[in-house]
Amino acid sequence: MNILVVGGGGREHAIIKKLKEDKRAETIYALPGNGGIAADAVCLEGSATDIPAVIAAAKEHAVDFVVVAPDDPLVLGMVDALEAEGFACFGPRKDAAVIEGSKAFSKDLMKKYGIPTAAYETFTDMDKALAYVESCPLPTVVKADGLALGKGVLICETREAAREAVRSMMEGRMFGDSGATVVVEEFLTGPEVSVLSFTDGETVVPMVSSMDHKRALDGDRGLNTGGMGTVAPNPYYTPDIASECMEKIFMPTIRAMKAEGRTFKGCLYFGLMLTPDGPKVIEYNCRFGDPETQVVLPLLESSLLEIMLAVSEGRLADTEVRFSEKSACCVILASEGYPQKYEKGFPITLPETMADRQIYIAGAVRKDGELVTSGGRVLGAVAIAEDLLTAIGKAYDWVERIHFDNAYCREDIGQRALQALREKK
Ligand code: AMP
Ligand code: GLY
Repeated sequence: MNILVVGGGGREHAIIKKLKEDKRAETIYALPGNGGIAADAVCLEGSATDIPAVIAAAKEHAVDFVVVAPDDPLVLGMVDALEAEGFACFGPRKDAAVIEGSKAFSKDLMKKYGIPTAAYETFTDMDKALAYVESCPLPTVVKADGLALGKGVLICETREAAREAVRSMMEGRMFGDSGATVVVEEFLTGPEVSVLSFTDGETVVPMVSSMDHKRALDGDRGLNTGGMGTVAPNPYYTPDIASECMEKIFMPTIRAMKAEGRTFKGCLYFGLMLTPDGPKVIEYNCRFGDPETQVVLPLLESSLLEIMLAVSEGRLADTEVRFSEKSACCVILASEGYPQKYEKGFPITLPETMADRQIYIAGAVRKDGELVTSGGRVLGAVAIAEDLLTAIGKAYDWVERIHFDNAYCREDIGQRALQALREKK
């Protein structure tokens, strides 16, 4: 079976490595892939959002199955276009991807179907939004409606900051057209949990839970990034909370999407906050998370290819999805200065492979046979172990053996999770 994976980051590298474990996978293509993915797949030139280019590549290489991994092509309708050409795909259609593509849509969906989330109001008129933030409780959360690379959320401690946030999104178009509509919502507190799930629109199978570290600096300080590291499982996500989420959030969401005529097939990502009033949805993503995937998929013991085929063919209920009881930690090595200005083009030295370790490349190209940095987040160093403490230790040991100039990582990935484990005892 020839497989095409659309995308080119660390998440796609983790997906490709896992797909390769199934003997049915013949050639795996990546569009565009990256310099590190090139060791595991045939990289094709083009952009992940160029629908005609992806269709042309699928035809040229006699592809049997396409995995569309990033949010933007999904929201643009790449799966619809591929299916119209007869290609089987993993990923939601455009009408379902809107669950991530529009926060106004997802908030209204949750309100209509009674799915727990922060109280909110949606605005397309700036004056009304400005009037509203004068009276709502502080801190206030202001969100751009559309995709904004995970950065379209401003947490405002003061009225002035809230006014400024509304103005910069709606007037200044800080996030482009994504800010034409804004959602102003209640500030929630509690630990955050990421739960990725497989769903064919009828059955939903949650994967092992994980914890992201979004801020650039230790102690959750600094700017928001695409994610500086992850651990799995997330110790805050107990079996009781998992059953509550299944009953109040996961199944209701799958049924709601179906009832709306927007059956969701693919990976649905639940960004949850465990508040004093129970788990609530912070956001939905219509795809695998990055860097959550880098700790979740190494713990998957069943065949990812088989699960993806089952999702696409609507037979997930009869398919085995088994996760290991082990723990995983991913430390992102970034270029110093990320998420703002950083230099690139530095050669990367990688260690010999080891059974309990992985390296997923996110931002690197091959130049004269050498792997050199090309992005802010360069790679994820992942380790698997019997327990979280050991996994974290091994991941940092792994980081020590990887070299490039100006490399930067957080030193505290997993510390909050360890603290939670200590508190449980
Ligand atoms: P989002 O892009 O919606 O996931 O938001 C990014 C981050 O902002 C989340 O991971 C949370 O840490 C924070 N956040 C978003 N919404 C809220 C909220 N209502 N209350 C508190 N924090 C929030
Ligand atoms: N790690 C968060 C995301 O993928 O959106």
